[in-house]
Amino acid sequence: MHGYLLTAYGPPTSHRMSEMPDLKPAPGHVLIRNEAIGLNYPDALMVQGKYQKRPEPPFVPGRDCAGTVIAAGEGVEGFNPGDRVVAQVFTGAFAEQVQAPLNRVFARPAAVSSADAAGAMTVFNTAYVAVVIRAGVKAGDRVVVTGAAGGVGAAAVQLAANLGAHVVGIVSSEEKAELARQSGAEKALILTDREEEPLKAAFKDQVRRAWGDDRGAQVVIDTVGGAMFQAGLRALGFAGKLVIVGFASGEIPAAKANYLLYNNLCVMGAPLDIHFDEALDQIRAGTAWWLGLLAEGKARANVTATLPFDRLMQGLQDILDRRVTGKLVVDVGARA
Ligand SMILES: NC(=O)c1ccc[n+]([C@@H]2O[C@H](COP(=O)([O-])OP(=O)(O)OC[C@H]3O[C@@H](n4cnc5c(N)ncnc54)[C@H](OP(=O)(O)O)[C@@H]3O)[C@@H](O)[C@H]2O)c1
Repeated sequence: MHGYLLTAYGPPTSHRMSEMPDLKPAPGHVLIRNEAIGLNYPDALMVQGKYQKRPEPPFVPGRDCAGTVIAAGEGVEGFNPGDRVVAQVFTGAFAEQVQAPLNRVFARPAAVSSADAAGAMTVFNTAYVAVVIRAGVKAGDRVVVTGAAGGVGAAAVQLAANLGAHVVGIVSSEEKAELARQSGAEKALILTDREEEPLKAAFKDQVRRAWGDDRGAQVVIDTVGGAMFQAGLRALGFAGKLVIVGFASGEIPAAKANYLLYNNLCVMGAPLDIHFDEALDQIRAGTAWWLGLLAEGKARANVTATLPFDRLMQGLQDILDRRVTGKLVVDVGARA
């Protein structure tokens, strides 16, 4: 089979595709014939050795993939050769065959292409953890999503809107505002000021105007961090919850405990990875739900480009260079 065996950390375009031995099904794992790979920012960090966890080379990087089952390893029930699946592994997705632990493999409906499933895997599961498991969003709730046209942000808007919430998306351009509205946001607010004080004032004022009263938001899903996190806190109303998804701005903010106390607020994290180990039943339910939404056309994976397998590393470089809108997916069977 072909794949990207990383022998030393380096910039994406320093890594080459090579031939390697076929995999054998390992106990407790599902062996997958990989058809599509979803590319994520953490993949670009991982190949450079800049991700929070640094596996010792040589290893095959890559996390989101989709295809069909080749074989189930010893002790695995519920998956048979030929089954359509989607998986999120820690490493190993950048290859024609992927060995996925049982807790990270999910059945994929016929109506969801491998490209859409691989493109949606991390972002929709992260959004599910934030919107459903952590925030507990219900119909009628007022929800603000920052970075609402980004991967996780657009997925969070779609999930909250499908639950019947009133969603306001925060974005930085009219093009991104349009994407947020297409995802189901009732309003998309364009906030470009990155300075904390003016951003806080504009954020709070515009969110209140969007809903026409002073009650503020019940939930803020924050993917950006930094000044956006501080602004999001100020837009919360009574018993509001701010869910931390990530820090796309690169700035990790601090919340003042007295502000949380006096305003009756809750700030919580939404890390996806730990949920595969600690709350697998919830992740299984969530994956089945959002795959169903994709199958019924009630949500979109927002795949904007599909690359041939030998252009994968260029795709990671494009992500680093911020040249990508929507999701990049790799067609494992295609060559440039
Ligand atoms: N909790 C988890 O388990 C988990 C899982 C996956 C990802 N994450 C994290 O969540 C964050 C969002 O991930 P994503 O995949 O949605 O990213 P993404 O697709 O790149 O979207 C991030 C959005 O953040 C906004 N942004 C603001 N300042 C930015 C800056 N300086 N650089 C880049 N973007 C900036 C951009 O929107 P505007 O231009 O409209 O402001 C962009 O659309 C990242 O920090 C990622 O590491 C966490």
